[in-house]
Amino acid sequence: MPFYHKLGKIPHKRHTTFKKSDGTFYYEQLFGTVGFDGMSSLLYHCHRPTMVKEVLDSYDVSPEIAVEKNMKSYALNGFNVKPTEDYLESRVPVLVNNDCHVVLASPTKSQTEYFYKNADCDEMIFIHEGSGKLRTLLGNIEFSYGDYLMIPRGMIYQMEFNDENNRLFIVESFSPMYTPKRYRNHFGQLLEHSPYCERDLRRPEELETHDEEGDFLVKVKKEGMIHQYIYASHPFDVVGWDGYNFPYAFSIHDFEPITGRVHQPPPVHQTFETNAFVVCSFCPRLYDYHPESIPAPYNHSNIDSDEVLYYVDGDFMSRNHIEKGMITIHPGGIPHGPHPGAMERSIGQKETHELAVMVDTFKPLKLTKQALALDEGDYHKSWIEH
Ligand SMILES: [Fe+2]
Repeated sequence: MPFYHKLGKIPHKRHTTFKKSDGTFYYEQLFGTVGFDGMSSLLYHCHRPTMVKEVLDSYDVSPEIAVEKNMKSYALNGFNVKPTEDYLESRVPVLVNNDCHVVLASPTKSQTEYFYKNADCDEMIFIHEGSGKLRTLLGNIEFSYGDYLMIPRGMIYQMEFNDENNRLFIVESFSPMYTPKRYRNHFGQLLEHSPYCERDLRRPEELETHDEEGDFLVKVKKEGMIHQYIYASHPFDVVGWDGYNFPYAFSIHDFEPITGRVHQPPPVHQTFETNAFVVCSFCPRLYDYHPESIPAPYNHSNIDSDEVLYYVDGDFMSRNHIEKGMITIHPGGIPHGPHPGAMERSIGQKETHELAVMVDTFKPLKLTKQALALDEGDYHKSWIEH
C-alpha cells in the first residue's frame, strides 16, 4: 500500500543490531516487490527466515484449458462449485490468461495444517459469503461479507473461517494490484475525488509472534506448481515490521459510488488497477437524474478487453435470469448490452441495489474445464427477443 504502517517492536535504525532480552539477535528481512523499486517492508524475525529443513514433493495445479480461444459469451453458475474442506483444494480456476487467474472457492474448513504463499501473484480474495480472520506473517485482519482481501505476492498466510459456509471470488494477478493511479497524488495519497480513501483500508492490526522451532509446512505456489517446504521455525515469528508492503482489506460496502445526470461509464466504478486488468465495484446507488436518462447501460464494444462480471447481491438491472454467484463473460471483439426489456424497465427507476464485482482484462481469457462444468447453456443467445 502506498502508505506507511508498522507493528510490533523494531530497532531505532534499519540495518543495525536488534537483540532479544537474552542477548541473541533478531533477524532482519527486507521484503520487497518489483526488484528494489516497488513497495517494501523490513521484518524482524525471531529465527532466520531461511531455515529450510526439507523439500517435499511438488505437485501441478495448472489450470486445464477447455476453450483456448474464446469468442462466446458465457454465464457460469459459480455457486455450483462444490464446497471442499481444504482451502487450496477448494480453489477452482475458471477463467485464465497469462496475466491473471479468476478462481472460485468454497472452503469449509480453516487452514490449520499448513501455511500458504503465492510466489507469483498478488491475490485479491473477495468474500461473498463467510467471515473469519486472515492470518499473515505481518499481522491479522478480520474479514466478513463484502471484503476485498488484498494480499501482495509472497505473503505467507492462513485463512481462518468462522463456519463452513464460505464463498470466495479470487483473482490471482501476475502483476501488482494497486489503487487507481488517477485517484492518487504524487505522494500516493488518495485524492478527494476517489470513491474511497485510506480510512477505508484496514491494515493488519494483530501481530502474532510465535517464537517456535519445529516442523512447519509452507505450500508455495509458483509457475502452476505447489512446492512444499518444511521450515524449522514458525512462519509467523515476526516481532515487528515497518514499511509499505503489507496485506489490507477494503469492504465493497465502503465504496462510494460516483453518479451523474446521465449514465456514468464503468471507469467510475474502478476500485483497483494492474497493468493487465482492472477491478470495478458496482454498488447500490441512486440512478441518473436527467429527466429523460436511461439508467441501463448502453450496448458497448469493449473491443480490447474481456469483461467478467461476478454477481454478488441485489437486482441485476441489465440482465435477465441472473442469480447470486454467477459469472458472465463478455469477450472483447463483439458488442454486448442490456437484455431485451432491461433498458425499457430501467427508465424512471430511482435506484439500484445491485452489488457486483467486475474484472476487465486487456488480453483474452481462456475457459477451464471446470468453467465449462458450470456453464448455464445458451447465454450467448440471450439477447434474442422471444
Ligand atoms: Fe459490459
